[in-house]
This record gives sequence, C-alpha cells and structure tokens, in this order.
Amino acid sequence: MRAMATPTVSHVDPLMFALLDDVRSRLMRLFRAPQGSFALAISGTGTAGMEAAVANLVGDGTRVLVVVTGYFGDRLAQMCERYGATVRRLEVEWGRACDPDALRTALEAEGADVVAMVHAETSTGVLNPIHQLAAIARKHGALTIVDAVTSFGGHALDVGAWGIDACYSCTQKCLGAPSGLAPVVFGPRALERRVKCRSFYFDLQLLEDYWVRRKYHHTMSSTLVYALDEALAIVEEEGLEARWARHERNHRALVDGLNAMGLSVLPPEGERLWTLNAVRVPEGVDETGVRKHLLDEFNIEIGAGLGPLAGKIWRVGLMGASSTPQLIVLLLGALEKAFAAQGRRHTMT
Ligand SMILES: Cc1ncc(COP(=O)(O)O)c(C=O)c1O
Repeated sequence: MRAMATPTVSHVDPLMFALLDDVRSRLMRLFRAPQGSFALAISGTGTAGMEAAVANLVGDGTRVLVVVTGYFGDRLAQMCERYGATVRRLEVEWGRACDPDALRTALEAEGADVVAMVHAETSTGVLNPIHQLAAIARKHGALTIVDAVTSFGGHALDVGAWGIDACYSCTQKCLGAPSGLAPVVFGPRALERRVKCRSFYFDLQLLEDYWVRRKYHHTMSSTLVYALDEALAIVEEEGLEARWARHERNHRALVDGLNAMGLSVLPPEGERLWTLNAVRVPEGVDETGVRKHLLDEFNIEIGAGLGPLAGKIWRVGLMGASSTPQLIVLLLGALEKAFAAQGRRHTMT
C-alpha cells in the first residue's frame, strides 16, 4: 500500500524503465527461468497472462492438448479455441490431479504442438504434477503452457528445471499485491516457435519493444508496477524456499484443525494445494449461511464451489500474507461459531 502511494511517473519515464528492468530480473529469478527467456508483467489480471501466452503460441490449426482438471483448465481450452487452435481436452475428474500416464497415453495416441495445463487448479484445490507432465510433453516435442496463477510464490515452481516453455501468473494471490498485472515468462523454445500474434495488446514483439527497446506500446500503470516490484522484493527477502515451506506448514495446520473438527478436504493427500484448500461442506449444512456468518461476524471471506462443485465445497485461500497460523486459528474458531449458529456441533475439543 505504501509503494502504491509513491507519486506516479509516466510509462516512458527513466524511473519507470529502471523499475521494469528490476521487475524483469526479479521475475527471471523467481520463475527460475533459463537464460534466453523473456520475463515481463502483462497489463491485466491472470486471464491477461493466459491470453498473452496463448495469443503468442497458438494460431489457426495449432494442435493443442489441454489438461482440464477444473474451471481454469476449461478457460484455457476456450481461450485456445478462440485463437483458432484444434483443441483436444484431456478431461480429469474434478478434485483429482492429472495422472502422468493419462497424458503419455493421450500424446502417444495423437501428437500435439502445445500442451496447456494448470499447475494449481483453484476451482478444486488440486496440484497437478507439472514437473512430470511437462517432461512428458517435451519428450513428445510439444511446447508447454503452464498456468501458475495460484502457485507462483506459494508452491515449488521451476520453469527451467521442469522444462516449461511459457508460464503465467497474477499479482493478487501468492505474491500479495493488488490485482492488475500478470507476470509471464517465455522460454527460449517458446520465443522461437511464436505464431503471428492476432492480438495487438498481447503481441510479445511489441511488448518487447516497450520493455527492452523503450518504445511506446501502451500506457502501463506505474502504480501497479511499484506494487509488483515491492511484492517481488518481499518474496525475495523471505526466500522462495522458505515461502513455499511456510505455505505447506500452514496448509497442514489447517487440515489438521479441520480434521479434528470432523471436516475433510476434497483432493487426496499428495494432490492438495497448500494455497487453496477445498473443504467439503458437511451434509445438511447451509453452505451460503456459513460463508455469510464468517463474513458478517468475523470479516473472513472464503470462496464458494464452482461448476459441479457449487454447494459441495468451500475454498479457503491461504496465500502470501494470509498464510499465517493466526488466521488459521481465527478461521477454525469462526467456523465453529458458524456451525453452532446452525445448531451443529463441529468443535476441535
Ligand atoms: C488457476 C487460475 N487461472 C486463471 C485465473 C484468472 O485470473 P484473474 O481472475 O486474475 O484474471 C484464476 C483466477 O482465480 C485462477 O485461479
């Protein structure tokens, strides 16, 4: 918030370009991108990051295999279709991660130019084994596009070691900045295999002209860049690995507390996100009533289920600054009260 109170500068001010250089090098380090990659922040939210990746790597007739493990995998498939791709979906049951063998079988049956997939599926609380999936895609000669919107800064992610070709995220989740920018990175193979970009706004060539060659493309918000640069500095101060460990520790503490109260989470152990916890709504509970109680009485907002999981789960985010033991204790106590208000007893003792 303090960073955002800094007086604004123009999009072509020398100070702005110095900030953009700083953001670029921080993103290269935090994505663990290999040399020769291009990292930047797209103006727009996580969806703009998704669109930038797709618009530069997918065109008419590109064969894209999309791993669909939930709502955001589906969005990725829709996006690829809009850019003219021939899309094949590898559908996975909501609440489960993609089995690497399923991807191997799908690629052996029919090749793909691009494999697109979501690392942290926010709609189901599921973590996909991207290091394995990306290796399989690469073995079959496909480029990989990875959505790291809910994992970047919260879960282990290594663009270089895992062989990811394009990866995008957002600012408002594990980085803890306001929404409005989308960090993205394109690796060397992706930069080589770019298509002619149909979008003016997301054209990587034009964006590179601005970020690197200082040529006007659009009027980027310095306020959002101040916020992102500060958020990235905070991540680097904590250290990526320490931050991942904190997210894991707090996730486990929450699940232990929930289990003690007789509640459970949807994905099986080993497929769970640390950043987004999908909690099963117990039979007979008014799920909207619980969310309203938490918000009205405790100022805690948790998410509802999406698509087929609507009414069946709550989605509890523990991301960035909100992944703390204090907030977990507060949430568990607040849940106990919300259940009690419905005449239900779910307590930790
Ligand atoms: C996995 C995933 N991908 C993409 C998006 C879209 O991001 P945004 O809402 O910032 O546009 C979200 C949003 O929650 C998400 O969770």
